Amino acid sequence: MDDPYRKSARIYDRIFDGMNKGLKLVGIRMFRPTKGMNILDVGCGTGTHLELYQRYQCNLSGLDLSQSMLQVASNRLKSTAQLALGDATSMPYENARFDLVIAMLALHEMSPKIRPQVLCEIKRVLKKDGRILLIDFHNGPYQPFQGWVSKGIIIIAELAAGRNHFINYRNFMNEGGLDRLINQQSLQIEKQQVVAGGTFGIYLVR
Ligand SMILES: C[S@@+](CC[C@H](N)C(=O)[O-])C[C@H]1O[C@@H](n2cnc3c(N)ncnc32)[C@H](O)[C@@H]1O
Repeated sequence: MDDPYRKSARIYDRIFDGMNKGLKLVGIRMFRPTKGMNILDVGCGTGTHLELYQRYQCNLSGLDLSQSMLQVASNRLKSTAQLALGDATSMPYENARFDLVIAMLALHEMSPKIRPQVLCEIKRVLKKDGRILLIDFHNGPYQPFQGWVSKGIIIIAELAAGRNHFINYRNFMNEGGLDRLINQQSLQIEKQQVVAGGTFGIYLVR
């Protein structure tokens, strides 16, 4: 299968990690991990998000469709995380295994058809009292000037990622983004923060 990240995986962190780290730290403040928790990052990419959870001595798992992204994650995380190559529509985990499932900047790039399937899978592998941390693009209102600049950078990055990627991003935004998906799946928002001038939403749901 074609790997859309074949060329960009090696430079992904140099471009995005600085910008995205703040979002991840907000997520950690929303849900403090504790020792021994089982945590899954769906669409874990290069593993920078799981790396931030290492200090909490949790059991870390990452799932991604891209072999190139997983290779970078594996070099970074070594044996501190169980990484799996696979599609989030059919996860290789038993029911009710995780205390926290994270999906950051993954849902917007999936086709609209599979987004509900992925959320159903997340619910399946989540413990009854577990939480889901969703971080993705948000539909404003965009604040001057931070929001406008951030929105401009996002559009350029999404265009650069290719036609299909951009179509899925546009659909995600036009269809109401995370708010709509959370509603459709009858998930309850426990905490929510909109940051970067209205361009990113961080949601803790159950
Ligand atoms: C924009 S990157 C974000 C990576 C990481 N979550 C972060 O925030 O740095 C999106 C990731 O989602 C993965 N992805 C996309 N569709 C997927 C699917 N159906 N199943 C698993 N991973 C998927 C991609 O391979 C990519 O690594």
